Amino acid sequence: MKIVCIGAGYVGGPTMSVIASKCPNVIIEVVDLSQERINAWNSDFLPIYEPGLSDILKESIGRNLFFSTQIEEAIEQADIVFVSVNTPTKTFGKGAGKAANLEYIEKCARTIRQYAKKDLIVVEKSTLPVRTAEAMEKILHSGESPYHFEVLSNPEFLAEGTAIQDLLVPDRVLIGGRQTESGIVAIEKLADLYAHWVPRERILRTNTWSSELSKLASNAFLAQRVSSINAISQLCEETEADVGEVSKAIGMDERIGSKFLNSSIGFGGSCFKKDILNLVYLCRQYGLNEAADYWDQVVIMNDHQKDRFIDKMIKTMFNTISGKKVAILGFAFKADTGDTRESPADYVVKQLLEEHCEVTISDPEALENAKKDLGERKNLSFEKDPYLACEGADATVIMTEWQAYKSLNFEKIYTSMRKPAFLFDGRNILDHLSIHQLGFNVFPIGKPSYVHELKKV
Ligand SMILES: NC(=O)c1ccc[n+]([C@@H]2O[C@H](COP(=O)([O-])OP(=O)(O)OC[C@H]3O[C@@H](n4cnc5c(N)ncnc54)[C@H](O)[C@@H]3O)[C@@H](O)[C@H]2O)c1
Repeated sequence: MKIVCIGAGYVGGPTMSVIASKCPNVIIEVVDLSQERINAWNSDFLPIYEPGLSDILKESIGRNLFFSTQIEEAIEQADIVFVSVNTPTKTFGKGAGKAANLEYIEKCARTIRQYAKKDLIVVEKSTLPVRTAEAMEKILHSGESPYHFEVLSNPEFLAEGTAIQDLLVPDRVLIGGRQTESGIVAIEKLADLYAHWVPRERILRTNTWSSELSKLASNAFLAQRVSSINAISQLCEETEADVGEVSKAIGMDERIGSKFLNSSIGFGGSCFKKDILNLVYLCRQYGLNEAADYWDQVVIMNDHQKDRFIDKMIKTMFNTISGKKVAILGFAFKADTGDTRESPADYVVKQLLEEHCEVTISDPEALENAKKDLGERKNLSFEKDPYLACEGADATVIMTEWQAYKSLNFEKIYTSMRKPAFLFDGRNILDHLSIHQLGFNVFPIGKPSYVHELKKV
């Protein structure tokens, strides 16, 4: 069997590496338009940082796993084509800022139709609006093609930072397809592939539309938890309640569960916001305005949390940060990834620069992406070493929950900073009291602040 995966990104690369490692008899070719990305996959400097990726890739690359830009040739030989291209929010025309831009998906469908040399299973791996498979089917079967294309929905639930573990031991694999004879055969063929390492009871089969919607709903629920706890964190700050204590208390209720209840500056990443906006757009298309408003609020709350954070920085630093120096520790949208898409740090840095702050960004894995995202700007610098980044700073800001930041020598950092020294913990990862005892004025999220000579805020 030959599998082709179109799109060698954060999903395509790790997913195919795991399938190749678990199914050594299957030939897998991952193709992409970007020569630069493909070159990186074929080098020692992978295009993405993901714990465990390099080891699992090495098992199969050159054996049964290949990366190339030969899209047409690959499709000619394929039995199954995974489509794992990006589906960003539309930035133009109807639905701009809300709907998913499906031009890359549609382009893939046209390319598959043009180059297929036999009947094919086409697997939607990308996250897509409900009923996209219908549009795919129409494109694939338009014109003169003599072949049958069975479109399946197989959304990916991996989380960046734990992608390899999530792929090796998934909570579930979801396969949606037409409930026809050929649809069921295709579903079972894909299920057999996953069954090489995933217990069969964890492989769910549904109709296509449930599968497409489950991915959007799953991301919406996850993001909603973040916004819910962040809304509570705002109330904690006003009432001297501690959001850590509240999270623990509510999370011990089994109906609620303890995961994903950390309050923070807010969620980022390429998926949550775009998928909720997409869900909101879909609801509105079907006239479900109250449902749309409900989900919209998750994004509104997330944006507001970032603004509150910046407002607090300005207010506590004597209502002006102009000319002050701020060290940003962490630019990745979460720990254990180099991905900076929709990172809260990006928004915060831009706001600080607007206020004429001098900003230095540090990050163990995302510095190159940060440079690409922000480019050269006045008052902005990049520094890999967190200690050097903090030298002479008025404020140190934790923006990503990197494990390494928990064990920094904050005494050394305090000594090198300008006084009074401020620390804003946007991820609530530090021991705030002991850091305060070193001399810092410490501002966590949703917890009491520790302030020395300043008025309490
Ligand atoms: N990143 C995640 O954590 C995650 C998790 C689950 C699902 N998803 C979904 O998976 C999809 C892919 O996400 P990603 O983060 O891997 O995106 P990505 O931007 O990292 O990768 C997409 C790749 O597709 C390539 N591409 C686009 N059009 C192409 C075409 N016509 N032919 C060949 N290559 C093409 C791009 O060059 C790019 O390398 C999205 O729909 C996303 O919502 C992402």
